[in-house]
Amino acid sequence: MVHSLTPNLILIGFMGTGKSTIGRLCARALRFRFADTDALIERRTRRTVSAIFSEEGEPEFRRLEAQAVNDLAMRANVVIATGGGAVLNPANTSVLQVSGVLIWLHVEPEEILRRCGTRESRPLLAGAAAPLDRIREMLTAREPYYRAAADACVITTGARREDAAAAVLEAYHGLASQWPHLPGRRSS
Ligand code: S3P
Repeated sequence: MVHSLTPNLILIGFMGTGKSTIGRLCARALRFRFADTDALIERRTRRTVSAIFSEEGEPEFRRLEAQAVNDLAMRANVVIATGGGAVLNPANTSVLQVSGVLIWLHVEPEEILRRCGTRESRPLLAGAAAPLDRIREMLTAREPYYRAAADACVITTGARREDAAAAVLEAYHGLASQWPHLPGRRSS
């Protein structure tokens, strides 16, 4: 793949870490477009993520997600907010790393619960009898994937969205000049 001069900014991390909100703010500051894998899936299928999960199952959602990741990764000058499970698939991580700089947004489980609750829009948390335990379990299982995929981590627990966006932009600018040969990347 030919690299655009400027790497895209890709936000990864668990549900409720602010990928879309912070991503929009960063896109405005960078004068990039903003894109969200879940929103693209919903637009393409004309169904909600929850409906896809309940009617067709998670494997079908993951197939649509991989397609969305591939398509968005090909664009230039874009901030991409990925779904919380996207980088569990190594093929997704690889195409995203070719596309830009990956920043992991990290938030403590208690705050994730406050932000997401057990809302219907989050099918993997909806209906959990002990949602905080569920979040902790999922975070423990997923952290190695986020850590392995990320070029940098920004902790946004308790942060105002503007401050979180500023921290993400600082990390992005620090890495963009070295991209795609970023420290710690297995592929670079
Ligand atoms: C998921 C996270 C959701 C959405 C889907 C699955 C996950 O996106 O893709 O419900 O596996 O963590 P957000 O991280 O934007 O909530």
